Amino acid sequence: MKVACMCSGRGSNMKSILEAKAAGRIPGAEFRGLICDEEGAGALETAAAFGLPSVTVPFRDFKGDRPAFEGRVLEALRGFGTELVVLAGFQRVLGKTVLGAYPGKVMNIHPALLPSFPGHQVWAKETGYGVKIAGATVHFVDEGVDSGPIILQGAVPVLETDGPDELSARILAVEHRIFPVAVDWVTSGRVTLEGRVSRLKGFGPSEAQAEAVLIWPPLTA
Ligand code: GRF
Repeated sequence: MKVACMCSGRGSNMKSILEAKAAGRIPGAEFRGLICDEEGAGALETAAAFGLPSVTVPFRDFKGDRPAFEGRVLEALRGFGTELVVLAGFQRVLGKTVLGAYPGKVMNIHPALLPSFPGHQVWAKETGYGVKIAGATVHFVDEGVDSGPIILQGAVPVLETDGPDELSARILAVEHRIFPVAVDWVTSGRVTLEGRVSRLKGFGPSEAQAEAVLIWPPLTA
């Protein structure tokens, strides 16, 4: 499956995916290119280091004309022969132009356990709210904000001493573990949808899996 990544910033999630590809862990994906909406973003350097071509479509050049911006993005996606779009730290909400061209074929990572804490700056909201378990979610993208079908989630504890920075670093580590796995699942055709519920082929129920429960803080503390 031909994949294009979209990033806005440092690109550490894309790097984790490209490293997994280089290590043979995503055999079903052929990475064709990066589309970046910010000039000078770290993701552009990362793509170059992996020999991945990139196109920059600076959002600010479009002076708020979102359909025109998305039209240019779509042209770049088509230029790469894209079949699957992987939003790896892409900080804008995509609308009908791109989503209509790629229905069910756009994936995103969000640094929270959705449906809790959609949107931006979630780490301060989580530490401020006082949740005890946080995490990250890989999901398909629909026209809402972080509201599409969930593919995979990873959880981490929130420590007493955590501020937003400490929590975001712990969540980012789990993002780097789960995103390459989810991209492998999707590009190898293991994920299907029943309504908004994703199903993973070859993952049947078992007692051992059902017992793997994380309680935080530990009850013995
Ligand atoms: C990550 O926290 C991701 O969950 C969110 O944006 C951030 C991107 O980080 N969507 P990076 O550019 O992948 O390092």
